Amino acid sequence: MKIKEILITEEEIKRKVRQLAQEINTNYADKDPLIIAVLDGSFIFCADLIKYLDFPVEVEFLKASSYNGETVPLEKVMIEDFSISVKDRDIILLDDILDSGNTLKTIKERLEALGAKSVITMVLVDKPSRRKYDQNADLVGFEIGNKFIVGYGMDYANRGRNLPYIAVIDEEDKDT
Ligand code: IMP
Ligand code: MG
Repeated sequence: MKIKEILITEEEIKRKVRQLAQEINTNYADKDPLIIAVLDGSFIFCADLIKYLDFPVEVEFLKASSYNGETVPLEKVMIEDFSISVKDRDIILLDDILDSGNTLKTIKERLEALGAKSVITMVLVDKPSRRKYDQNADLVGFEIGNKFIVGYGMDYANRGRNLPYIAVIDEEDKDT
C-alpha cells in the first residue's frame, strides 16, 4: 500500500474530534446517551472522542462489515450478534466513514426496531457524493470527495489503521 497524499493531518483530526465531543457535552449529556461505535473502523475515533466527554458516558461496540477486503462494498451489511440493551435509550451511533449509507442505515434501523428511543448518527468522515441509500449523519467531522482513505482506524484490506493521519492511497499501487 502506497500513500498518495495526506488528506487530513493529525492536528486537524485532534481539533475536530474535540469539537465533536464538545457538541455531545453541550447538547446530549443530559440524555445520558449510550454511545455505540461501529467496529472495526471507528475504534480510534471512539477512543479519542470519549476522552473529551465530561460525563460518565456508557460505551458499547458493534461489529459490522460491508467490505470484503476490497474497496468495492458488498450490498449486504453483516452485523455480528450483539446483546446491547438499547430499549428506551438515546443512542449516539459512531462510525468512521459514511459512504453509500448502507452500514449506518442498516444499523440505525436495527437499533430502532429493538426499541431505541432515538438514534443520533456521528461520523468522522462523510463522502456525500457516494451516497446510494437515504441516510445522512447528524454530526459530521469532515466532508471529502470520492477518494479511498486509510488511517486513524480506517483500512485498506485491514492495513493502514495505525496511521495517525488520514491519507489517500494510490489505487493503482494498492498491493505493494
Ligand atoms: P457504507 O455502508 O457504504 O456507508 O460504508 C461505510 C463503511 O465502509 C465504513 O464503516 C467504512 O468502514 C468503510 N469505508 C467506506 N469508505 C472507506 C474508505 O475510503 N476507506 C476505508 N473504509 C471505508
Ligand atoms: Mg468499517
